[in-house]
Amino acid sequence: MSVSLFSQKDNGTVKMERFVEDLLSKMTLDDKIGQMNQLNLEGINDTLLTKIKAGQIGSMLNITDPKEINLVQETAVKDSRLGIPLIIGRDIIHGFKTIFPIPLGQAASFNPQIVEDGARVAATEARERGIHWTFAPMLDISRDARWGRIAESLGEDTYLAGKLGAAVVKGFQGNDLSSDNSLAACVKHFVGYGASEGGRDYNSTNIPERLMRNVYLPPFREAIEAGAVTLMTSFNDNDGIPSSGNSFLLKDILRKEWQFDGFVVSDWASMSEMLSHGYAVDRKDVAMLAANAGIDMEMVSETYVDYLKELVTEKKVSLADIDNYVRNILKVKYRLGLFDNPYVDTSKVSTAYSERHLQTARRAAVESAILLKNEDVLPLHVNQKIAIIGPMADAKHDQMGTWVFDGDKNYTVTPLKALQRGYKNVSFIYEPILNYSRDKNKTFFEKAKKAVGEADVAVVFLGEESILSGEAHSLSNINLIGVQSELLQVVKSCGKPVVLVVMAGRPLTIERDLPYADAVLYNFHPGTMGGPAIWDLLFGKENPSGKLPVTFVREVGQIPMYYNHNNTGRPAQWIPTLDEIPTEAQQTSLGNTSFYLDSGDKPLFPFGYGLSYSKFKYSGLQLSSDKIKQGETLMVKATVKNVSNVDGDEVVQLYVRDLVGSIARPVKELKGFTKIHLKAGESKQVEFQLTPEELAFYGRDLQKKAEAGDFKLWVGPNSAEGLEGGFSLQ
Ligand code: GLC
Repeated sequence: MSVSLFSQKDNGTVKMERFVEDLLSKMTLDDKIGQMNQLNLEGINDTLLTKIKAGQIGSMLNITDPKEINLVQETAVKDSRLGIPLIIGRDIIHGFKTIFPIPLGQAASFNPQIVEDGARVAATEARERGIHWTFAPMLDISRDARWGRIAESLGEDTYLAGKLGAAVVKGFQGNDLSSDNSLAACVKHFVGYGASEGGRDYNSTNIPERLMRNVYLPPFREAIEAGAVTLMTSFNDNDGIPSSGNSFLLKDILRKEWQFDGFVVSDWASMSEMLSHGYAVDRKDVAMLAANAGIDMEMVSETYVDYLKELVTEKKVSLADIDNYVRNILKVKYRLGLFDNPYVDTSKVSTAYSERHLQTARRAAVESAILLKNEDVLPLHVNQKIAIIGPMADAKHDQMGTWVFDGDKNYTVTPLKALQRGYKNVSFIYEPILNYSRDKNKTFFEKAKKAVGEADVAVVFLGEESILSGEAHSLSNINLIGVQSELLQVVKSCGKPVVLVVMAGRPLTIERDLPYADAVLYNFHPGTMGGPAIWDLLFGKENPSGKLPVTFVREVGQIPMYYNHNNTGRPAQWIPTLDEIPTEAQQTSLGNTSFYLDSGDKPLFPFGYGLSYSKFKYSGLQLSSDKIKQGETLMVKATVKNVSNVDGDEVVQLYVRDLVGSIARPVKELKGFTKIHLKAGESKQVEFQLTPEELAFYGRDLQKKAEAGDFKLWVGPNSAEGLEGGFSLQ
């Protein structure tokens, strides 16, 4: 049973409900519909102010000037009949002014505290400007690197996305939504958007209910149980039904099953896009379908204000529904303290880019970086002369990543700037060679050779401009774009050690680049403080600890490939390489199993993978029993030892496999993780508690339960290896 912010009947809640009911009783139908209408700021003009005075607008988005916010707020509070304040929303996805690593990067930290701290900084910087509501966290499970919005996601795993999504909500909302460093969170995009066919944004999805309940829905529920007060519908039609018109999702699951009592906002015109989906015949039909499905607030398409009154009169939409939607909206405004204090204090000194915020962002960038390869070239030494090569070495704008509206690129500390400021005694030569990631001009390749020739080591910064990921920016080819791979090969041809540093919005297919790099440090666009973080990692002041929140495929053709897949009836066995297949080979159905002739059945790097300068040894797996009953807890312990001479952090992961179920079950599922710090030579015993609830899933009868049977489990450093144990659930 979920417990949301509003269902605890404490005095505050009773007082709030009394206030809301009293206000609702004074509202006309026009007033109510006005609260359900959200407009985008397109200039402060008479048309807008007239609508606000008439109570036709309940919310605005993309207004960020505190003075303008106070102007529209004053109009609402002083010049409209009931004086209901507006709720102001903005996309604050990974930072407002101080920009943090993109969510996919923060997910690589496997550290809920890092994620919570980042959200708190963002909330502080945004609320002080008068913004009350952010359209985040985005909890779309993403198994397709072609999809540009994988950048905004917390990766491919339901368990990880659930834990980190709850931390984001906590960071945004804190313990008191009315405080001046809290934002109302908005969990999006409900639901299944990350499964857009072909990884092409806005495309249809075809997720059956059981998979929806086992993989795509749980992170949303966890975020709601963490107190998220709003939720946004997704653009996709699932099995033909657009989410903004899907009452099964919005009423049956969200309201009846989960008891969600916040409010639901559509995505940008996602309601009117039901016309394009061919799901609504006209805008009036759009309003009816959305209202009857359970959308409380309409983002920018204005069908509610145009048709809801008529629909109520025609009894095609119930007034009871509208009253509930308006209650949900008013309760969030109440919890935000907007009725007590709707205005922003414009005299307040901004906390944007404060040293504390910048250091919090640096910490996040450090923990978000993933060391994928290191053949004894890292850490670097400050007495090495470094050739800094590549278009991402000083990319102030692109380093921030996608979904950055308010971050100022002039605050970005790029790797070049960071070296100049933080490592003044390091000798380096800087040659970008390419002006941006898509640049195809190879004219300056010779300059790269010259620079590397004069240096002891080359550090090559490659990747993606920020615009190559994010909304509406899917790619069918996810190799390093342009001539970057050629540049890397030219650098390697000089015979010096080569460190490849990638900044990208997605896992790129970098297998063909690996032979030309002795070390690879991967950063999902690391944000404002990416530069200092990267050098501190490369010089060993920090020890890499990031782990992959998403599978790195060898070829784009392997997509979708994710670690928690089903076993199939023919899991890959013997895999011939293409060259091993004789000419005129006879077709046979014997011994055939599931793999690609050209790229096998394994990814380049698995979910949960990441190296360190330390070396961690796992031993001593202990289970409290080899069987547990329903209601009992299995204690799982293992010892992790740092057998190196370098202190470091390790993300210890617990995976489970349900060997037989009423439906085929994944070969592995993450059921626990903990990040531990181990000094050189230090050992720690890690303990996980595993309950039947965590083993429960929606089975053949679509009921959620933990089915009796045998299980395997692993405790290890990633999804492909670990100490193996077994137990049974009776
Ligand atoms: C966009 C996005 C959504 C965002 C909204 C408001 O189209 O899909 O994530 O919050 O519109 O900008």
